[in-house]
Amino acid sequence: MRDLARRLALCALLGSVCAPCPQRCECSEMALTVKCVSKDLRSFPAGIPGYTRSLFVTGNQISRLGPESIRGLDNLTILNLSGNRISVLESHTFSRLHRLRSLDLSNNQLAVIHPEAFSVPNQFLRELNLSMALYNHSAVLDLAGSFRWSSLSSLTVLDLSNNGLIFLPSQIFSNLNSLHQLLLSNNSLVAIHNSTLSGLESLQELHLTHNAFKMFPEEVLREFDSLPRATLFLRENPLTCTCGIEPFALWLNSSQNRVADAEDLVCSFPAAMRNTSLLAVGRLTLECHQTDPEADVALQTSYVFLGLVLGFIGLIFLFVLFLNRKGIKKRINDMRDACREVWEGYHYRFELDSDPRLSQLSNSADA
Ligand SMILES: *[C@@H]1O[C@H](CO)[C@@H](O)[C@H](O)[C@H]1NC(C)=O
Ligand SMILES: *[C@@H]1O[C@H](CO)[C@@H](O)[C@H](O)[C@H]1NC(C)=O
Ligand SMILES: *[C@@H]1O[C@H](CO)[C@@H](O)[C@H](O)[C@H]1NC(C)=O
Ligand SMILES: *[C@@H]1O[C@H](CO)[C@@H](O)[C@H](O)[C@H]1NC(C)=O
Ligand SMILES: *[C@@H]1O[C@H](CO)[C@@H](O)[C@H](O)[C@H]1NC(C)=O
Ligand SMILES: *[C@@H]1O[C@H](CO)[C@@H](O)[C@H](O)[C@H]1NC(C)=O
Ligand SMILES: *[C@@H]1O[C@H](CO)[C@@H](O)[C@H](O)[C@H]1NC(C)=O
Ligand SMILES: *[C@@H]1O[C@H](CO)[C@@H](O)[C@H](O)[C@H]1NC(C)=O
Repeated sequence: MRDLARRLALCALLGSVCAPCPQRCECSEMALTVKCVSKDLRSFPAGIPGYTRSLFVTGNQISRLGPESIRGLDNLTILNLSGNRISVLESHTFSRLHRLRSLDLSNNQLAVIHPEAFSVPNQFLRELNLSMALYNHSAVLDLAGSFRWSSLSSLTVLDLSNNGLIFLPSQIFSNLNSLHQLLLSNNSLVAIHNSTLSGLESLQELHLTHNAFKMFPEEVLREFDSLPRATLFLRENPLTCTCGIEPFALWLNSSQNRVADAEDLVCSFPAAMRNTSLLAVGRLTLECHQTDPEADVALQTSYVFLGLVLGFIGLIFLFVLFLNRKGIKKRINDMRDACREVWEGYHYRFELDSDPRLSQLSNSADA
């Protein structure tokens, strides 16, 4: 009763018409703001005043959201639904919000996202926060569908950090042509494939820190190069400094201005290389023969040396033969004579054995 009195008094003071405020919410008509923060709400509050520009329904227990929940809020520009339990986003949930510019769905449990969940009229939406918003990794497939089918062509900031993402579906961002800032930090990404980043021509910042990249192979470097204006953030990935890292180390050395944290990139494996700066790896040699021209030259030199040594040994052998030519000739002759004697001996025995008369003779002699 006293509350109401105080509110009426305030209304009189401000000389404005006091619109009703939903239970458990705080409404400020002056600031055009309504806050229903940490009030254990199980569904979206009804009766939010029409003047509301900024609406905070954060830290509650809301689990479902559809177009019937949000109505009569033509002037709403900022909608914060962070810290709820929203698991299902229905088709056209936000399509009555003609002026929505910022939508914060961080800290939710989105498992089902309708392809047209993010369809918004007039394409005013600029910021979409989905940090820690996905129930599990599988939801990224629904999300990719909704990015393709919802009209988000004026979105400039997309936060997908802290979602445990393992991979990004091909062309997931291909309709987000105005995106300036893409946050993918603290996921479990190991690779970026061909055309994963296509459509991001306007991108200015790409955050990939705190993921699971061991390498950035040439395919990824090509994707990075397809974002000519983007500054990259790549810190805190378990980079493995074996031969496969060389293309990245060289690319990094020539693209330092594009990687904001180039100085902070260090090897995590192998143990001997831990904490070695990636920029130093570019200068050091990893002893990768296929790609290191100096190593190739060393290898060629060693082949030439081996050839020379073998040739020298061959010459010495021939020289020894030449010096011994008389003795060798004599030995060959001796050997030939010995062979002839042996051969003739065999020949004689053979003739003896094959002559029937002689064998008969010997048989009778035996008898
Ligand atoms: C929305 O804002 C406009 C001014 O920008 C105002 O004239 C109109 O009354 C507002 N709508 C509501 C429902 O308050
Ligand atoms: C939404 O609310 C959360 C929790 O209070 C806060 O951290 C976040 O900054 C808010 N987002 C916006 C866009 O105001
Ligand atoms: C998204 O929301 C999280 C948590 O509320 C907040 O820490 C983060 O700064 C927000 N992202 C952006 C780009 O505002
Ligand atoms: C993610 O959650 C959905 C819904 O509970 C479930 O069907 C699916 O198997 C889960 N996926 C993973 C990778 O755990
Ligand atoms: C990273 O994301 C996970 C959820 O996937 C979260 O539990 C954890 O707190 C986040 N870590 C940091 C440093 O933000
Ligand atoms: C990647 O895309 C390029 C053209 O952008 C194409 O030439 C190449 O074959 C593709 N590679 C794979 C593995 O799809
Ligand atoms: C690597 O660097 C970090 C911080 O600079 C330090 O805490 C850690 O002990 C270092 N590890 C090794 C193996 O040098
Ligand atoms: C790294 O770049 C500098 C010029 O910025 C160049 O002088 C140096 O040779 C490069 N190092 C390697 C290993 O390519």
